[in-house]
Amino acid sequence: MSPTPTVILLFLMASSFPCWLKISVSATARTDESPCVVTGDTERGGEYVNCSSKGLTSLQPSWFPDTATTLNLDHNDLHFLDSGTFRRLNKLKVLSVRYSNVYKVQENALMGLGRLEELNLENNNIDLSQIPPRIFSHVPNVVNLYLKGNRNGETKHPHKAFAKTFSDLKQLQRLSLDRNSTLYLGQDFASLENLIYLHIDCSNVTKITNESLAGFQNVSLQELVLASSTMGYEVAFETGVFRYLETLQVLRMKETSISNKIVLRSLWPFENKTMTVIQLESLGLQGTWATPEKMFADGDIKKDDVKYLRGICFLQLIWNKCSIGSMDSRGFDGPSNMKRCVRSLQFTKQLLGRLHQQRVLLLNIFQFQRLEELQYGGFEWCGPDIHFKLSSYQNVSSEYQTSSEHFETFKGETMLTSSKIHDRLNSDKKATVFQRRHFSHLKPVPQTSTALDKSAFSIKIPKTLKQCIFFGSLGVFPIHNFHVWGGENFREFRYVSSSRLEMYGIITGLENTTLVDITRSEVKRFIRVNFFKMFPNAQTIILNSLASKDFLHLIFDERWFDATPKLEHVEVSDNRLHSFPRRTFSTNWKLTTVVLTQNKFTSLGLDVSNMPALKVLDLRHNAISTLEQQEMTALDKHPQTKAHGLSLLLGGNPIHCLCSRLSFLIWLHTTLVRLDNSGNYTCTDDRGYSISTGDLATAKAIWRRCEGRRALLVSFCLLLALAFGFMTLYKWRRFKTA
Ligand SMILES: *[C@@H]1O[C@H](CO)[C@@H](O)[C@H](O)[C@H]1NC(C)=O
Ligand SMILES: *[C@@H]1O[C@H](CO)[C@@H](O)[C@H](O)[C@H]1NC(C)=O
Ligand SMILES: *[C@@H]1O[C@H](CO)[C@@H](O)[C@H](O)[C@H]1NC(C)=O
Ligand SMILES: *[C@@H]1O[C@H](CO)[C@@H](O)[C@H](O)[C@H]1NC(C)=O
Ligand SMILES: *[C@@H]1O[C@H](CO)[C@@H](O)[C@H](O)[C@H]1NC(C)=O
Ligand SMILES: *[C@@H]1O[C@H](CO)[C@@H](O)[C@H](O)[C@H]1NC(C)=O
Ligand SMILES: *[C@@H]1O[C@H](CO)[C@@H](O)[C@H](O)[C@H]1NC(C)=O
Ligand SMILES: *[C@@H]1O[C@H](CO)[C@@H](O)[C@H](O)[C@H]1NC(C)=O
Ligand SMILES: *[C@@H]1O[C@H](CO)[C@@H](O)[C@H](O)[C@H]1NC(C)=O
Repeated sequence: MSPTPTVILLFLMASSFPCWLKISVSATARTDESPCVVTGDTERGGEYVNCSSKGLTSLQPSWFPDTATTLNLDHNDLHFLDSGTFRRLNKLKVLSVRYSNVYKVQENALMGLGRLEELNLENNNIDLSQIPPRIFSHVPNVVNLYLKGNRNGETKHPHKAFAKTFSDLKQLQRLSLDRNSTLYLGQDFASLENLIYLHIDCSNVTKITNESLAGFQNVSLQELVLASSTMGYEVAFETGVFRYLETLQVLRMKETSISNKIVLRSLWPFENKTMTVIQLESLGLQGTWATPEKMFADGDIKKDDVKYLRGICFLQLIWNKCSIGSMDSRGFDGPSNMKRCVRSLQFTKQLLGRLHQQRVLLLNIFQFQRLEELQYGGFEWCGPDIHFKLSSYQNVSSEYQTSSEHFETFKGETMLTSSKIHDRLNSDKKATVFQRRHFSHLKPVPQTSTALDKSAFSIKIPKTLKQCIFFGSLGVFPIHNFHVWGGENFREFRYVSSSRLEMYGIITGLENTTLVDITRSEVKRFIRVNFFKMFPNAQTIILNSLASKDFLHLIFDERWFDATPKLEHVEVSDNRLHSFPRRTFSTNWKLTTVVLTQNKFTSLGLDVSNMPALKVLDLRHNAISTLEQQEMTALDKHPQTKAHGLSLLLGGNPIHCLCSRLSFLIWLHTTLVRLDNSGNYTCTDDRGYSISTGDLATAKAIWRRCEGRRALLVSFCLLLALAFGFMTLYKWRRFKTA
């Protein structure tokens, strides 16, 4: 073999060597470059390192600055958390690695995180039974540890797996985790003396026994959440489950196939105790088409079933979607801790019958002495989802405990007013008499007079009641002439997505109401009366998607808004409206916001010059293609008459960019009225193209095109006239002699 090829080869290799070098250097340089976004951590003082959703498959320790206090690694594809990855991050307080497909965490992965306070590994694929026992010894200061949404593989002693794992976490206050088959959290948890919050994902739990929470006997747990991600098979539940949790303040049970009745019967350890929240959501036994009996039997709540519930002094009850089909209102008769304490009650999406058939239950609820908000809905609602925010009472509990004198002094008299009729509503006998007296009579009583004898019909509501929301209720709810006692603080009345409210009279005593909402409901009246007269102080009226448009015509024809001079905010969306009668709001001087989205308006529909306080006119998703000159003038005048500006919202309208609409397009750029999207709407031009109005150049181009066309037309006419003139002249000259 001649030496030449070898030399050539060597030469080639040598010449390409710097090239390799360059490649490898640039490769390391690239991995050094952090893919994360570093910003100031306003909450914890250091830096917030955000590596969420970056498609990361591995991590480089050098990516994270030493000063990081929060590290977010959510939504990646990491598979492993290797030893030492975070070793330099000794200032880190929060580490979040959720939804990142992690299935193995090495024993020393958390090394160096001595100051870590929160570790969130939720929704990965970690087998919690295989987790190394000393893994948390590196993070002794962790306060919040979230592990749910992972796996629970098979072990011989499933509940032994955690034996040592948590013993290092003396500071732990909040913990979430999954459990498998029979729930058991035993002695291993007894060392978590500071634990106050525990969330157990019960998706794969089949049995919860009296001993399931035995480890918490000496732990003063405050909040327990038992929830599943899906409603699975029936969970066997024993009624002694909560026996070790006497300090519990908040109990939440969600999306689990557990019998309502058994849950109610297992509340006995809390009897005569104070609690904050009891939430029962999507519980109940699953019926099938063939055998619905089980579900119906479980949803039939008898007097005896609620005996522990009514014995608890709690502030908020949330009881939704549990297939409750009937409720014996006698369960709540007479004085009870529940009646005395409850401030917020939500009872919706059940299988209860028509609303007016539940009036005895409702009357009973109105005897809850401190009730502040009530959300009530009979039927499982399948329309658009509605969510009305509840107050948070979690912080109220401590306040409550300090003022617990209510507990001792309660004799049933303190809360009652001196009113003759209502003196002794708390005595069972009188209450029944009362109900019979006022609601046995349900036949329509057409009456033209609105003058009321206040003692004739009246109900008493708690003085504390502020908000009443009925939604998703079927049937007819009749309103007769009656007076409400105790409505001083009543502010919000909503009757939403429900069928008919029939007016045979009017209610007095709710004059302090500021918000009235009858979205998606129907109101029908049998006497000539203005519905809004009941709410003369209303500031907000919401009439969206009304079930019968006749009602709107009544409102306009009879000028109902005249009865609400304090009106500030009105919504009439999605009602197929074309226009308003001109003087609809002429007496509502304080009106600031009018929302008219999703109607069929082709113009403003309102005379804004009549509305001095108007700040927002929302006309999105209507049929407006342009505004008339006088409307633009009125709008332009408006902000000049008042210090504040006016906002006009026009997005989603089929605006036309035609020559004839040019003045509108220019107005969009010149007006002082604030426009949504900064006046940049999509519009259709004369050639059918979709363009946007935001650019002044567009308007100019249209102007040029329109002007050009007009100029062309004019010159063409001139040309014709000239030609004709010449012709005539020529003819005249030529045939002059003739
Ligand atoms: C972190 O980044 C993600 C994706 O880039 C982003 O959606 C998220 O809002 C960021 N979080 C914070 C707190 O900045
Ligand atoms: C529950 O079990 C199913 C099937 O065995 C499994 O796919 C799922 O990951 C488990 N869920 C939890 C939270 O353990
Ligand atoms: C726990 O769940 C896993 C699925 O994540 C399943 O394979 C295993 O059989 C369950 N273990 C027990 C003891 O039921
Ligand atoms: C709770 O404390 C009592 C007495 O201090 C003790 O007898 C009991 O074993 C403890 N329970 C647990 C679960 O540690
Ligand atoms: C569980 O506790 C309840 C209430 O204390 C009791 O009635 C029931 O018999 C217990 N069940 C078992 C299996 O011990
Ligand atoms: C709760 O209080 C009532 C009335 O004072 C009493 O009859 C009942 O026995 C008490 N229940 C418990 C578990 O202490
Ligand atoms: C309770 O109050 C504290 C501070 O007063 C606040 O940080 C915390 O978020 C509140 N908790 C709830 C559930 O509102
Ligand atoms: C409305 O509130 C005022 C002041 O809070 C009170 O004096 C008045 O009695 C209330 N009106 C009604 C009808 O409750
Ligand atoms: C107006 O909106 C369109 C798309 O909706 C956008 O392309 C255009 O840049 C916007 N014009 C201005 C001036 O913001």
